[in-house]
Amino acid sequence: MRDQPTIDQTLRDEAEVLTRNIGEVLAETIGSLDDRTSLPPGADTALKSLEESLPETGNGLEPTLERLLELNRQAGANTGGPRCFHFVIGGSTPAALAADLLATACETLTYTWVTSPIGVTMELRALAWLRELFGLPADWSGAMVTGGTMANFVGLAAGRQWWGEQHGFDVSEDGLAGKPRMPVLTSGFVHAATRKCLALQGIGRGNLQTFTADATGRIDLDGFEQGLRQLDGAPALVVVNAGEVNAGAFDPVEEMISIARQHKVWVHVDGAFGLFARVSPRTEHLVRGVEYADSVAVDGHKWLNVPYDSGYAFVRDHGLMARAFRYTADYLPPEDDPRPTLGAIAPESSRRGRSFAVWATLAAYGREGQRRLVEHCLDNARHLADRVTAAEDLELLAEVGLNIVPFRFNPGGLSDEQLDDLNHRLGEAVLADGRFLVGTSKLGPRTIFRPAFSNWRTTTGHVDEFVTVIRELGAAVHAGGGSSAG
Ligand SMILES: Cc1ncc(COP(=O)(O)O)c(C=O)c1O
Repeated sequence: MRDQPTIDQTLRDEAEVLTRNIGEVLAETIGSLDDRTSLPPGADTALKSLEESLPETGNGLEPTLERLLELNRQAGANTGGPRCFHFVIGGSTPAALAADLLATACETLTYTWVTSPIGVTMELRALAWLRELFGLPADWSGAMVTGGTMANFVGLAAGRQWWGEQHGFDVSEDGLAGKPRMPVLTSGFVHAATRKCLALQGIGRGNLQTFTADATGRIDLDGFEQGLRQLDGAPALVVVNAGEVNAGAFDPVEEMISIARQHKVWVHVDGAFGLFARVSPRTEHLVRGVEYADSVAVDGHKWLNVPYDSGYAFVRDHGLMARAFRYTADYLPPEDDPRPTLGAIAPESSRRGRSFAVWATLAAYGREGQRRLVEHCLDNARHLADRVTAAEDLELLAEVGLNIVPFRFNPGGLSDEQLDDLNHRLGEAVLADGRFLVGTSKLGPRTIFRPAFSNWRTTTGHVDEFVTVIRELGAAVHAGGGSSAG
């Protein structure tokens, strides 16, 4: 019997095969983004083949990769493609995609300076460029995280640390047990991510006070102001929502911050996608004044068009991040080390090289390229709004201020409740059809479609195609009758 090669020899041989084939695999994957189905029908059936036990002896690289590619063709949602308008999902610019692949290939570890001098330095530089892009003060601190949820987490953690210090204690050392309730004020536009962060930080989802003027969640500014006055000088957190997910509406950022500033509060802005309004003169007014906040969260995998996962937190006071996320041990770099340890100012300690993609897309296309990318998406949203307004069986349900177009299929002669049911069923039919990936939600009590445009690959041609598909499927679902309740 021949000796088995050692594992390192096996893997070295495989690494050679990978080097030879990777170009072809990537070319096929990236090259098919424009044409692949958005949500392949029959994905569940294809995925059944994954229900198998752990193989005793592996299949090797090539068959494994081939199977993975085939499964992805059968069951991968094409979220990077031009027909995905669900949630708020961006594409990837070529520079960002290439740089992200490089970061993985280099196994870039941005915990601290010695694990990657380039990764750490580039993250700090990329954050500085992002501050310039968004008009945030140059002396703010920041961190790269997995996305909008964790970016909000960082901003709120800094706020929570600040709040404790206002009360004379260190939340990160002492915890919240036995301490006063931490007031958190916001509007009805607040995103589920903020609630999740409040839950994780021991503040509590239920502790959020939302001041709403109508069923869409628009802020009741008088109520908000009164809520602040009732604090009677006690410190609190305020969350300003720069971009909500149903219609792309904004809290009045400048007004809300200037009201909040008259009280002892930490102002955090959730600008996951809405902060990109700042990049175009057409929409910049929506986030004017954001620089007067204390912390700001924004997502890169949305409108910056860098690959998942990538989000950024900006915080006025670096010390609060350092105290909130302190991470010390004898084998780790000392806290006073002049070489930066990013893992000690952010939630994750080991962290990947997210900055490669951010730096590369900004280096390759600049501020101007990013503005054109944002405006390209604004134009697609505008085009859809115009097409919806012109179609007798589609109804626009709110003004389009940014990149989200709230509308419903309305063939006429149906009550609001019947339309809710019809649009709910149409939403299911669109997903089953798979040509477009788009979601439904509620605007007030009404069921809506809420396509969001944040991918450079989408063109007005795709938008036209979408209108045709919605009308075709809408007519079929309506003609098919029935109701989801029945
Ligand atoms: C306003 C807002 N905040 C937070 C988030 C959460 O971001 P992520 O899914 O990247 O964690 C989103 C995501 O859609 C969002 O739109």
